[in-house]
Amino acid sequence: MGQHILHIAYLIASITFILGLKMLSNPKTAKRGNMIAAVGMVLGIFATIFLYRDSVHHHHLGNKLWIFGGILIGTIIGWLMAMKVKMTAMPQMVSFFNGMGGACAAIISIVEFGRLNENATGLDGIMNGTTLVILLGVLIGCVSFAGSIIAYLKLEGKMGDKSLPLQQFVNVTLMAGSIALIWYIMSRESADQTLLYALVALSLVYGVLFVLPIGGADMPVVISLLNSFTGMAAAFGGFLYHNSAMLTGGILVGSAGTILTVLMCKAMNRSLLNVILGSFGGGNAAAGEREIGGSIREISLNDAAVLCNYSTKVMIVPGYGLAVAQAQHTCHELEKTLTANGVEVKYAIHPVAGRMPGHMNVLLAEADVSYDKLLEMEVANEDFDAVDVVLVIGANDVVNPAAKTDPASPIYGMPILNVEESKNVIVFKRGMAKGYAGIENELFYHDKTRMLFGDAKSSLEKLVSEVKSL
Ligand code: TAP
Repeated sequence: MGQHILHIAYLIASITFILGLKMLSNPKTAKRGNMIAAVGMVLGIFATIFLYRDSVHHHHLGNKLWIFGGILIGTIIGWLMAMKVKMTAMPQMVSFFNGMGGACAAIISIVEFGRLNENATGLDGIMNGTTLVILLGVLIGCVSFAGSIIAYLKLEGKMGDKSLPLQQFVNVTLMAGSIALIWYIMSRESADQTLLYALVALSLVYGVLFVLPIGGADMPVVISLLNSFTGMAAAFGGFLYHNSAMLTGGILVGSAGTILTVLMCKAMNRSLLNVILGSFGGGNAAAGEREIGGSIREISLNDAAVLCNYSTKVMIVPGYGLAVAQAQHTCHELEKTLTANGVEVKYAIHPVAGRMPGHMNVLLAEADVSYDKLLEMEVANEDFDAVDVVLVIGANDVVNPAAKTDPASPIYGMPILNVEESKNVIVFKRGMAKGYAGIENELFYHDKTRMLFGDAKSSLEKLVSEVKSL
């Protein structure tokens, strides 16, 4: 009876994961979707703790004090981290949590490897599907753990991009060595713990070296890839324990991570191989940069207010700087003030604006900006020639025309927002610092462009009061 209830609990948990993931695809339902999947996860965990029996001895789980102690400590740490994290530091946190998931999956596999000899029939050795699943769990879990921790340290600014001599050769050799070792371990008569630790060490070193040379702006792509690795490793755990909820959850994370990786690469017009081997955002970003003609011209707050207020159509292009300045609420206030004065205001959202997928959507949703005001890049690009003023707020790379005109540019081929097709462009930024790709932006020197220097939040606050005083 208990086992039937356990499987029903797993089924319900799996359904909540699928529903939750579906709901996460829309900002309106995302919060509820996250909650539903979390409830399913809690159900899956408690059903396992109280109803699961192991297939050999039919025992329930023991060590409840340890289990609940671990849950309590993990919950407190996770809760505190999630409450304290700034929106701009979200990729680091995702990376850290993903690393913990990879470590869990690897530890499960390490423990199960130790039990292989107990369960082996003796005659066939350990060359079977279970051993393969365990060893792949160790390999992928360790790569994901080590890679995610390096990604976390790099995003926190505690580590720079580093390349070893013959980096790619070393990486390929390590990966080939790990696969050969898995084969050798399986071909033995019994499970050899020393060889397992050698595999753990090789996989950890590979994880570190895989992420170490990757350029800063490519980190979200790598994190998403590592996320899909963790999903796969968790799915292997689901196989081992005949746990369908863990299997479904792992497959969903694995496939969602893979799809997201592909979508991000597409949005930057790059192949995954190019991200892994390339140097976008890395040291040679400035190589081949062209001389930019024209000059920088500033605009006063009063002129900007007049220009916006007497326009028919204003388009806001948010970028990473908007998130840094936490200017989303003030930005929404400007939108409401202009709309009340009869101006049509929309937002043009570039798929990789900011530092993580959906960054701008999440930021603007937090400020209660209506979803129907958010235009996707393709739609916005059809609209720019009818726009009177584009307000580029803390965005840089995603509006850089070099992506279309300069084949030597590291962002060449990346689809961008064609803001220069509008009648006027006002760029909000603090100075002339480059964007994440580390390259100059000729948009700032364009005839139609005026710069409004200063922190995005304080510039927007002043602009709102100027517009109100007109
Ligand atoms: P960026 O190109 O990074 O430019 C941000 C700009 O904001 C900077 O030029 C900076 O100039 C300005 N800024 C910073 N703090 C500010 C503040 N407090 N007030 C006003 N301005 C401020 O941003 P973007 O256009 O959003 O592009 C995102 C980049 O990340 C792209 O290269 C993209 O490929 C990469 N990336 C994103 C993702 C995802 S999924 N979002 C994934 C991979 C890569 P100042 O310092 O002069 O103010």
